[in-house]
Amino acid sequence: MELLKQRILKDGRALDEHVLLVDSFLNNQVDPALMRAVGEEFAARFKDAGVTRVATIETSGIAPAVMTAEALGVPMVIMKKSLSSILKDDILQTEVFSFTKNKSYTLTLKKTYMHPEDRVLVIDDFLANGEAAFGAFRLVEAAGATPVGLGTVIAKVFQPGIDKLREAGYRVEALAPVSRMGENIIEFE
Ligand code: G4P
Repeated sequence: MELLKQRILKDGRALDEHVLLVDSFLNNQVDPALMRAVGEEFAARFKDAGVTRVATIETSGIAPAVMTAEALGVPMVIMKKSLSSILKDDILQTEVFSFTKNKSYTLTLKKTYMHPEDRVLVIDDFLANGEAAFGAFRLVEAAGATPVGLGTVIAKVFQPGIDKLREAGYRVEALAPVSRMGENIIEFE
């Protein structure tokens, strides 16, 4: 997606060969017009997949996910990384290990918002090792629903997640596949 790639080149910053900062439009501040374009692009790519629900992992996946859901005309479901005391019944949970943060967290889905007849598109901001996406797919499958794929705004394709997910049979669409980074270097596939 050319608009997104140009924005990453203009406002993103590679800290080193692993970490890309996109704080100004995706992680700390959100550009709604760009997110709307992102949502329309995901909706176009998955238009024939029969999506009935979009799901994402809080926090930074929410903006692109809600715009995708709006473009597809379906609801958007949030998987939580922290569990509030009021969310304790009718839930599905799975453990996810984050290599970036070197710790595990429990991903939680409220069952009420996913059903066996659902075809679910998972949207997230970054794909690195793929652990979050695998966790999201486990919850979709535990609900008896069908995962139709992952749409990621940015994929660091030099990290193992994208290949692991595709080898496991999941469709992955990356709007900005980053193939190489270094201090002030960002290259796309
Ligand atoms: P994985 O799911 O693909 O295995 O990724 P991992 O757990 O390693 O990523 C943990 C967090 O770090 C995720 O956000 C992910 O979006 C983010 N992340 C990974 N690589 C980068 C990067 O190069 N740049 C930026 N800006 N973020 C990266 P999170 O902690 O869940 O944050 P949030 O969604 O709550 O904002």
